[in-house]
Amino acid sequence: MPRTTFAGTGYYVPERVVTNEDLTRLMDTSDAWIVERTGIRERRWVSEGMSGAEMARRAADAALADAGLAPSDLDAIVLATVSPDHFAPGTGVFLQRELGVPGIPAIDVRAQCSGFVYGLAIADAFIRAGQYRTILLVGVEIQSTGIDVSTRGRDMAVLFGDGAGAAVLTASEDAARGVLSTHLHADGRFAEMLWVEFESSKHHPRISAEVIESGRQYPSMDGKEVFKHAVARMPEVVEEALAANGLHVRDIDLLVPHQANLRITQMVQRRLGLSDAQVVSNIHKFGNTTAATIPIALAEAVAEGRLREGNLLCLVAFGSGFTWGAALVRW
Ligand SMILES: CC(C)(COP(=O)(O)OP(=O)(O)OC[C@H]1O[C@@H](n2cnc3c(N)ncnc32)[C@H](O)[C@@H]1OP(=O)(O)O)[C@@H](O)C(=O)NCCC(=O)NCCS
Repeated sequence: MPRTTFAGTGYYVPERVVTNEDLTRLMDTSDAWIVERTGIRERRWVSEGMSGAEMARRAADAALADAGLAPSDLDAIVLATVSPDHFAPGTGVFLQRELGVPGIPAIDVRAQCSGFVYGLAIADAFIRAGQYRTILLVGVEIQSTGIDVSTRGRDMAVLFGDGAGAAVLTASEDAARGVLSTHLHADGRFAEMLWVEFESSKHHPRISAEVIESGRQYPSMDGKEVFKHAVARMPEVVEEALAANGLHVRDIDLLVPHQANLRITQMVQRRLGLSDAQVVSNIHKFGNTTAATIPIALAEAVAEGRLREGNLLCLVAFGSGFTWGAALVRW
C-alpha cells in the first residue's frame, strides 16, 4: 500500500501587517491585554482585491516549487477553509482555475481549525487506496473581512488573521516514511460554542437587517469553554495517535499544533511534557489563521531546517464544531 509523503510545503501571507496597536484605533483593547491572553503581537490582513484562491495559489506555487513539481503533476486538490471566496462553488475550483489544471477534482473541506488535519486524512486515504498519487492540500483563510472590528467583537477580532499554507503530498512505496496514521474526532453538541450563525440557509431570507443589526453574522464563541476543551482534546488525540503506532511522547521530534492561542499551545505542551524545541509556535506573527495555521507553521519549520528525514512529526488541531484531530508523520 502506498504511503503519503510530504514532497513540498509553502505558504503565503498578505503583506499588510496589523499590529495590536493598530487594533486599539478600532476598538477598546490594548497590546498588553492581547499579548498576555493570546501571545499575538501582529497578524496579516488582506488588502482589497486579494482573494482566498489567489492566496492559496501563491502558497501552492511555493509548495510545488519546493517539491520540484508543476501544477500539471497534480491528480487532485483538497482545500480547507471556513471563509470561502463565495457561498458556492467552493474555493477549490477557483484555485484549480488559477493553477490552470482543468479536469482534476477539487474537494473543499469544512472542518474549521481542524480543516488541514481533516484534509490530510482525506488525501492520505486517496493515496493509500491508490486512487491518486499527487495531491495538493491547502489551508486558506480570509478572516479579516468577516470579523466585527468594533469593541463589541473584540474578543474574536484580536485573534484572527489571514493567510494560506500548502503541502504537496505524493505516494511513496517506502514503508519507512510518510503519514503513519490520522485520527479525527468531532462533537456537534458544542457546535454553537464557536460558530458563525448567519448567513443561514435555514432562514428565509438567509440574512436580515435585524440579524445584521445584532451582529449575528460575525463569528462568536464562548472563549472559556473553547479554551477548556482545546487543552484537553489536543493532548488526548496526540496520545491516541502515539498509542496507535506503539510510540511515546518522547519519540516526537516536532509538534505542529493549530495556532489558536499561545496559552493553549503552552498548556498542550506542558500536558504532553514537551520542550520548546519540540513545539512550533508562530502565533505572535500571524494570529489564528484557522485552517491555514498548521500548513503555514509546518512550511516555516521546514524552511528553518527543524525537520530532518526520519524525524517524527505530529500535527494536532482543535476547532469549531467542535472538531479535532492529529496526524503522525515519519518525515
Ligand atoms: C478569548 C480569550 C483570550 C479571552 O480570555 P478570557 O480570560 O477568557 O477573558 P474573558 O472572556 O473572561 O474576558 C475578560 C475581560 O476582558 C474583556 N475583553 C475581551 N476581549 C478583549 C480584548 N480584545 N481587549 C480587551 N479586553 C477584552 C472582556 O470583555 C472581559 O471584560 P469584563 O471582565 O469586564 O467582562 C480566551 O477565552 C481564549 O483564548 N479562548 C480560546 C479562544 C480560541 O482559541 N478560539 C479559537 C479556537 S480554534
